[in-house]
Amino acid sequence: MGIVRIAGPVVVGDVEGASLGDMVRIGEAKLIGEIIGLRGEQATIQAFEDTNGLGIGEPIESTHFPVSVELGPGLIGSIYDGIQRPLDTIKMISGDFVPRGITIPSLDRDKKWHFEPRAKKGDKVSKGQVVGTVKETELIEHRIMALYDGIMDEVREGDFTVEESVAIISGKEMNMIQRWPVRMGRPYGEKIPSYEPLVTGQRVLDTFFPIARGGAACVSGPFGSGKTVVQHQLARWSDADVIIFVGCGERGNEMCQVLLEFPELTDPRTGRPLMERTILIANTSNMPFAAREASVYTGITLAEYYRDMGYNVALQADSTSRWAEALREISGRLEEMPGEEGYPAYLASRIAAFYERSGVVKTLGGGEGSITVIGSVSPPGGDFSEPVTQATLRFTKVFWALDAQLAYMRHFPAVNWLNSYSLYIDDVESWWEENVSKDWRELRDRAMALLQRESELQEIVKLIGTESLSDEEKLILEVSRHIREDFLYQSAFHEIDTFTDTMKQYRLLRSIMYFYDLAKEKITDAGLEIILKLPIRAKISRAKYLTDMAGFDQIDEEIKKSLEGEDG
Ligand SMILES: Nc1ncnc2c1ncn2[C@@H]1O[C@H](COP(=O)(O)OP(=O)(O)OP(=O)(O)O)[C@@H](O)[C@H]1O
Ligand SMILES: [Mg+2]
Repeated sequence: MGIVRIAGPVVVGDVEGASLGDMVRIGEAKLIGEIIGLRGEQATIQAFEDTNGLGIGEPIESTHFPVSVELGPGLIGSIYDGIQRPLDTIKMISGDFVPRGITIPSLDRDKKWHFEPRAKKGDKVSKGQVVGTVKETELIEHRIMALYDGIMDEVREGDFTVEESVAIISGKEMNMIQRWPVRMGRPYGEKIPSYEPLVTGQRVLDTFFPIARGGAACVSGPFGSGKTVVQHQLARWSDADVIIFVGCGERGNEMCQVLLEFPELTDPRTGRPLMERTILIANTSNMPFAAREASVYTGITLAEYYRDMGYNVALQADSTSRWAEALREISGRLEEMPGEEGYPAYLASRIAAFYERSGVVKTLGGGEGSITVIGSVSPPGGDFSEPVTQATLRFTKVFWALDAQLAYMRHFPAVNWLNSYSLYIDDVESWWEENVSKDWRELRDRAMALLQRESELQEIVKLIGTESLSDEEKLILEVSRHIREDFLYQSAFHEIDTFTDTMKQYRLLRSIMYFYDLAKEKITDAGLEIILKLPIRAKISRAKYLTDMAGFDQIDEEIKKSLEGEDG
């Protein structure tokens, strides 16, 4: 009876009345686990906590409920571990982890929230409809959604804890907390196509490889290529309402950096602390594998909850490779037949199920909300052909390929413009046309074509030297360098450069291309050498630090003057 076998995070034993997926408490220590296999009464369990010290014969109890999260006011600003236990930052940093088997509620049970009804007595309400609001933080209004269909018998304005009843719907009391199983997507009306970009303020991403709101992106690259910095930049600057950052099994110190750094950051749009619209889920590599596995589900479920309120949520998982490794580890312990590189055969379907929870939806309440998912992948040796990158690319429509070579040359963000792609360009094109400029697409495509041409020319130069190139080709190399160094390169650590709005992105690229167009026209008359020595080139190189559009007017004016002037 009780535990019959323990193999690292996998425990086998008899559990009374168990169902697949149930959360269990294992042994005297009451460790948290999940039933992942059942044969008769005998359950195979993955433990979310360290199983050291567990003994054969100790009891296992089912909670008769799947692994789930608590939803309600107080989520925003929280820092949780993979199974939604609140982490005390200080403890985390001192390496003093949550004691095993402890039950800490995810939401504060004592805190009172001011509930303001949005429905009145006698109203017909439907499940998912917003029936009241709570000011969760300065930035986020928490919308309390009806848990049932029915008639509002009673609704109370006032200060309540999450467990106190705020309304009665057709005889049923309703409070502000609910549980939701993490592996099950929350219901919505329908998915709707997205034609709007998630604006990130990162030029190479927005202009060249945009992600649509509600889309999914994969940022992949070797060790130190800048995945985490890209994710941080998105958390900070992207125009989502709510950010959910899942730090999944990254090195301990890196996660500490996030925990130290995030609470210090301010939201650029409001000047308020960024944590007032952020939830952090932190798993370090010294936490058990299974907890990492749970963390991405915890994250996406919280994202769905805010989506259902009508918010645009961005979920960032850094790095999903650690999650895949957890799957591999557990699968190995279960002695399942391994697939490619030891990952389980169901790796791709798990990854798919995660990214499929992104999207723009019509909510049950009749509003619109979205989840944009950005997952990092850390392929060993930077080899994109490995299973996790490949599986991820099947379900994401954007690939930001980070490059060791670029990072080595300190070209950041080290997004390789030749390997990366976005399948959302057609979708977001009209947004750019309406909000920025009619010729956005043409400009972007022309600049991209120049970069491609540059790489071909560089091959030739490598073989037979620059001398073999025509002046026009040499001009392409020079202008491409402007695109690379003055547009694509963007410092995350420079006060102005760290973020570029869409209009400025457009104007900056347009000035570079304008220079190219005029220079190309004048090249035979004026000669390449003279053109390359024009002082306007230095101004183009500094244009990214401009803060108003008039500066770009001046630059364009000067490009025109200096190139037409040469004509004499
Ligand atoms: N946009 C950027 N601007 C300036 N420097 C950057 C930028 N991106 C990355 N870097 C530099 O590269 C370093 C490594 O980046 P980062 O930690 O994001 O890499 P990573 O891909 O997450 O690595 P790992 O695989 O170890 O997790 C940073 O500490 C920073 O110095
Ligand atoms: Mg990293």
